[in-house]
Amino acid sequence: MKGAKNLVTKAMVAALLADTPSELRSVPEISDVRVVRGLLEIHGVAVETLGDTMRLDPANVESAHETSINAHAGSSRIPILFCGPLLHRLGEAFIPDLGGCHIGDRPIDYHLEVLRNFGAVVDKLPTGIRMTAPDGLHGAKVTLPYPSVGATEQVLLTATRAKGRTELSNAAVEPEILDLIAILQKMGAEIQVDTDRTIRIEGVDHLVGYSHTALFDRNEAASWACAALATGGDIFVGGARQQEMTTFLNVYRKVGGAFEIEDDGIRFWHPGGDLKPVVVETDVHPGFMTDWQQPLVVALAKAKGISIVHETVYEQRFGFTEALVDMGATIQIHTECLGSHACRFGQRNYQHSAVIAGPVSLRGADIVVPDLRGGFSHLVAALTAEGESRISNVGIIARGYERFIEKLQVLGADFRVDG
Ligand code: EPU
Repeated sequence: MKGAKNLVTKAMVAALLADTPSELRSVPEISDVRVVRGLLEIHGVAVETLGDTMRLDPANVESAHETSINAHAGSSRIPILFCGPLLHRLGEAFIPDLGGCHIGDRPIDYHLEVLRNFGAVVDKLPTGIRMTAPDGLHGAKVTLPYPSVGATEQVLLTATRAKGRTELSNAAVEPEILDLIAILQKMGAEIQVDTDRTIRIEGVDHLVGYSHTALFDRNEAASWACAALATGGDIFVGGARQQEMTTFLNVYRKVGGAFEIEDDGIRFWHPGGDLKPVVVETDVHPGFMTDWQQPLVVALAKAKGISIVHETVYEQRFGFTEALVDMGATIQIHTECLGSHACRFGQRNYQHSAVIAGPVSLRGADIVVPDLRGGFSHLVAALTAEGESRISNVGIIARGYERFIEKLQVLGADFRVDG
């Protein structure tokens, strides 16, 4: 397994901040990386790859044509993170309509507010968003309404080269963010993370290129772990590390899964016997990640008893369960907060708590993949089901799972790819 999608794509953007080339290792071949590469290239960054190493040279950064930028509209959420670096380099930025998975509204209000705090002038156009920084960007005091991963990264990528000091309160501290901070530190940034999730950044005039091996993808690791559990299999996930996954591993063990930590990865398997139900709440780090719940739900459909998953990060992340219900799973989605604490979605009629009753045997079905993580869970469900399933729109899965078809083949999955 290679580096994390949710770090690699941001590390690529960080290369824009430097005057000299950067080298990023363990870059996965996924479509989100291709989208970010395309956007960097149209802005004059020379990108070369050799195996899983990517070299990014920002010496000739230039403005891109709106039409070339818009060719990337709807394909990823990362373009919003180009704003700070482009404003520093060029004094202006244009970003297209964003994409990403449809798992809720996914607004960008925090991002825009952050950028305005730094002195950006934001102009929303029908085709995208144009930004300028007539007086340059200056440090700011920012408090996020929610510890958003993207908005925290926005602050980091903007503040490191802004004039003066930035103080970010209520920041997210996901391992991918700490790895991005490590990269920025290598580049010459001055960033301090306090125990109360306040991040302090002292702006610097110049940054140099970095050389870095990306953090492993803990979302991909959790997905394969759940695949092993749901299918009664045994999977060694090379490159997975315990430290960033302790919360997941606790739940995995509670459900009845077994794992063994090795120096070069983690082995996950179903040790036999009944799987046990659990109550899980998704949360920001160090909580149970929202990207872990979808494949886990498939395993929970096979557990003996009633499980509850309370999704507190995204308001609409149970759309994927409809296909599981079609396959015979007993899953009810509720608007109430069914976890131990009320979340910000409880009073707002969002379908954000799932009750899963098991064990059930799933049967094959026709499924159209709705989003990245949901799509992977559908693959797993289809592999456990009796009879054939037809899964379409699997291209979405390639956004975040490198060579998943080959990996499934190696694992002995029985499937055929048409078209
Ligand atoms: N939010 C706002 N306004 C904003 C930004 C976020 O209201 O301007 C809300 C979101 O709607 C959501 C919550 O804040 O309810 C958290 O969103 P966050 O900003 O933390 O998420 P993100 O940065 O857009 C990243 C990952 C997601 C992952 C989340 C949570 C990337 C490219 N995406 O999204 O990964 O689920 O953090 O850890 O890093 C995936 O990999 O499939 C994926 C969706």
